[in-house]
Amino acid sequence: MHELDLPTDKKKKVLIETWGCQMNVADSENMLSMLQKENYTLTNKEADADLVLLNTCHIREKAKHKVLSRLGKLKELKVLKPSMKIAVSGCVAQAEGKKLLKSAPQIDVLFGPGKILDFPQLLKENAKTKLPTMAIGFKRESTSYPEVETNNTVKPSISGKFETGRYVNITQGCDNFCTFCVVPFTRGREISRKPLDIIKECQSLLDDGAKEITLLGQNVNSYGSDLVESDSIENPFMSLLEQVASLPKLVRLRFTTSNPHDFTRSLSNLFSTEDKLGTYLHLPVQSGNDEVLRRMKRKVTADEYLEKVSWLRNSNPNFALSTDLIVGFPGETEAQFEDTLKLVEKVRFNFIFAFMYSPRKNTAAIRFPDQVPEEVKQQRLRRLNQLQDKITVQLNENEIGKTSEVLFAYPSKKEENCYYGRTKEFRLVKVSSSTPLVGLVREVKITNANKIALLGELS
Ligand code: SAH
Ligand code: SF4
Ligand code: F3S
Repeated sequence: MHELDLPTDKKKKVLIETWGCQMNVADSENMLSMLQKENYTLTNKEADADLVLLNTCHIREKAKHKVLSRLGKLKELKVLKPSMKIAVSGCVAQAEGKKLLKSAPQIDVLFGPGKILDFPQLLKENAKTKLPTMAIGFKRESTSYPEVETNNTVKPSISGKFETGRYVNITQGCDNFCTFCVVPFTRGREISRKPLDIIKECQSLLDDGAKEITLLGQNVNSYGSDLVESDSIENPFMSLLEQVASLPKLVRLRFTTSNPHDFTRSLSNLFSTEDKLGTYLHLPVQSGNDEVLRRMKRKVTADEYLEKVSWLRNSNPNFALSTDLIVGFPGETEAQFEDTLKLVEKVRFNFIFAFMYSPRKNTAAIRFPDQVPEEVKQQRLRRLNQLQDKITVQLNENEIGKTSEVLFAYPSKKEENCYYGRTKEFRLVKVSSSTPLVGLVREVKITNANKIALLGELS
């Protein structure tokens, strides 16, 4: 009998916990796919787990602390259940490596985002030697994405339920070295996956029922600059978008994250011609002040950012935008922070992700003078979020009475006969319906709104 044919109760069980960005979610799904071939099945119960995989994030100090505290709890569990294996992957594993293994000897296997393909082998070695196994670092020449197979195996969803929206990594790493950011150190240099592999993965997810695909990279707009086959193509990212958009089963196509520096006019025009792209973009600006942006090494000024926004809004005044902002970057004065507030008022983002600056090992900004006190950062974060909350509520209330096309994504966990979906502008909409809506596109009349979501009725 082949291993894969074992009944579920004979399979080993893995619990996967994922922190950080969507790239980590996509990585976790790939790792699950690899583990399934090694005779594992997914569990959400810690008590049942033969293997616990923590896929970690290092972006801010808080993210790292969550991992350490989780490892502490698992250490206690392992005393009661010594056969349980603990694996740590992701950006903390890459950044902390040996140091983490030393301080947390309960870890059996540790590997970075560049070594995902080594995971099964590391588990086997650990089983044989009973010693911790570790692999960190990056190979320049190859990516760490398991090839999509032709025998109908499809990358599983880690939530374990049917998912309308799926993530596909198209690049790994980043070459930008923004002075606050740890990603180039935890994910390595930028490497693009081959277009054919990406299309094959998208097709297999669509065949499995996906309706919306989000292409992922830390800087998606620069996709392909490292690919030999892209030499003859003017804009490899746009070419990829066009190819994925042409897949017949696809309803919506999104991509993130776009670095404003590489966001071109021709890419903005694609939103007018390619209906599947919808009318929403996440475009992180980080600050509204040019001096802060310069010291962050973001390579665009606030005015250049606003110009890119105008490309999108001139052809569609309701084009929805979200952004990332950092408050309390080293040296940020009150006046410089207020420039961020002004930019937020000008753009009127639909929502924002605002963070207090967190000093990171290896990054340039950790050594910058005039680090901003914690209480000042907290107060600035509060003021920024208060301003944005007002704008979000206003923009959402403007939708009341309008009719929008909604792609339904998942049922409510709390209310029966209730479904959530998103409009083309990425607005979350809740609708009651006696028939299931997941995976369907429906016209919805918006009847009410709050900060989080719109309420609607099928029309
Ligand atoms: N590649 C994306 C960003 C990925 S990290 C881009 O260039 O836009 C996601 C967000 O985390 C960043 O946009 C930034 O707002 C935030 N972030 C990154 N490093 C940070 C740090 N050291 N402190 C606080 N926030 C940080
Ligand atoms: Fe980090 Fe900048 Fe790269 Fe984004 S573009 S991942 S913020 S270094
Ligand atoms: Fe975190 Fe690594 Fe993503 S640091 S945000 S999981 S790239």
